[in-house]
Amino acid sequence: MLISSWESVTFVFWMDKQQGVRRRFFFLFITVLVFILCITVRTPRTGRIIPPPHRAPYACPLQISERSITPLNNTKHLLVSAYMDQRVNGLDVRIIGIFKRDSIRKLHCVFCCAGQLSSTTPGTILQHSDNFGFPYVTTDVMCQIPQNCNATHVNLLTQPGKVRLVDQPWLPIRNKRSNGKEKEKLPFNFTVCISNLFGNYNNVLQVAQTMEMYRLLGVDRVVIYNTSCGPDLDRLLQIYSKEGFVEMVPWPIDQHLNPSPGWLFSQSGGDVHYFGQLTTLNECIYRSMDRSRYVLLNDIDEIIMPYKHNNLTSLMDVLQQQHPNTGVYLIENHIFPKKHFEPSGRFHLPQWNGVPGVNILEHIYREDPDSQSYHPHKMIVQPRLVEWTSVHEVLKSSGQQLKVPMDVCRVIHVRVALRGSLTLKQLNEDKRLWDFQEKLIPSVDKALRRAGLLPS
Ligand SMILES: *[C@@H]1O[C@H](CO)[C@@H](O)[C@H](O)[C@H]1NC(C)=O
Ligand SMILES: *[C@@H]1O[C@H](CO)[C@@H](O)[C@H](O)[C@H]1NC(C)=O
Ligand SMILES: *[C@@H]1O[C@H](CO)[C@@H](O)[C@H](O)[C@H]1NC(C)=O
Ligand SMILES: *[C@@H]1O[C@H](CO)[C@@H](O)[C@H](O)[C@H]1NC(C)=O
Ligand SMILES: *[C@@H]1O[C@H](CO)[C@@H](O)[C@H](O)[C@H]1NC(C)=O
Repeated sequence: MLISSWESVTFVFWMDKQQGVRRRFFFLFITVLVFILCITVRTPRTGRIIPPPHRAPYACPLQISERSITPLNNTKHLLVSAYMDQRVNGLDVRIIGIFKRDSIRKLHCVFCCAGQLSSTTPGTILQHSDNFGFPYVTTDVMCQIPQNCNATHVNLLTQPGKVRLVDQPWLPIRNKRSNGKEKEKLPFNFTVCISNLFGNYNNVLQVAQTMEMYRLLGVDRVVIYNTSCGPDLDRLLQIYSKEGFVEMVPWPIDQHLNPSPGWLFSQSGGDVHYFGQLTTLNECIYRSMDRSRYVLLNDIDEIIMPYKHNNLTSLMDVLQQQHPNTGVYLIENHIFPKKHFEPSGRFHLPQWNGVPGVNILEHIYREDPDSQSYHPHKMIVQPRLVEWTSVHEVLKSSGQQLKVPMDVCRVIHVRVALRGSLTLKQLNEDKRLWDFQEKLIPSVDKALRRAGLLPS
């Protein structure tokens, strides 16, 4: 349009010059100039598809949820977090929640698109397959983002259609970075997810030893979902969290539900499996998906220990090379009963006498798993290949699973005996932890000192 106008100007200019009428030329020139000006000023407006915004500049989000558990208005459900997840065709966002199984109804997704409300899209509700009989179950709602929406936050509504106002807290959409940039360098190689800390747990010596052992093995980050803990452990975790090694996620599930002390509804009752452990494990996988190559799913008193390598990096480099299509590595759990002590007492260190908790270096006798019963595994997973996880197995994933032989890697789990009737002679001596003592003991001392649990 512009180019043809300029052509006509040139043409008119030439005509006038030929006629030699100066005044007429001048008049025509001005007319054309005004005409062109009108066109150039108008073109960008008429050429746009999107009408100029007449709505309020900030229709959303009015409130952003800063809590890790957000009740969903007009339902009995709880929302936890929202992550970009385009692994399933046609779906964009996964909202992780804890839903009451007997009252699940249709839900509709609404987005905040750069300050403007979107129209709703239907939510696809997926109840996780493990619920162990409890009335509440980990549930994902998958949402599609409408076209031309640069979504920053998401919300769920019980009614579809056009929305004027959403007066419940919005969930920020996280992991937006992963969009097409699969190969970018991740800040962490190994993240440990500790699903739940609750009660007055104050086993601070074992936790300090475990955290320092993780660090020696190459762990970059430990994520802990915290309902409550004892006073000394609180001091230690505050320090680790300030230093950035530990990421504490507040998990006040007991303010919303009656969490069960057990894993089976028929045995212990309550609203939800343990303290919502299945939800936090899944949340941790999504939280780590964009930033960690591997995720270790184990409890706070467990160490996933390589027996043929110095650290997790060398272990996984070898395993991954041998099994390139594997996304889930199952590691056998082995119990080291805390009632049996190593006889020489060489690691019964005087400086730890006043520190509450178990000294794992003193427990070197390992139970054989009961061959009659199922022995549970803990896991190392590639988070991007996992969709749903449970505690001892992955429920939905795209990679293969591998049972790692126990001479390559196993879980060291110092706790009350599982097979209490076994005598010392029936246990196996296992001093793997001692291989690290030279570095481990000074690191534990330093950590306890930083937390004010040892005099400096
Ligand atoms: C989407 O919004 C974010 C944050 O408001 C902004 O940084 C980003 O550039 C936007 N992307 C597009 C494609 O407009
Ligand atoms: C939704 O919940 C928020 C607080 O979470 C409250 O302020 C708001 O009034 C509720 N809206 C409705 C429609 O119940
Ligand atoms: C992760 O491991 C690779 C080698 O496998 C190494 O080059 C990289 O520095 C490690 N990253 C971190 C954060 O330790
Ligand atoms: C892991 O062990 C290998 C081999 O012993 C060593 O070369 C490497 O530096 C170690 N990596 C870390 C992160 O400790
Ligand atoms: C864990 O949660 C409890 C209860 O909210 C809190 O008092 C404590 O400070 C938290 N500890 C850490 C390390 O975040």
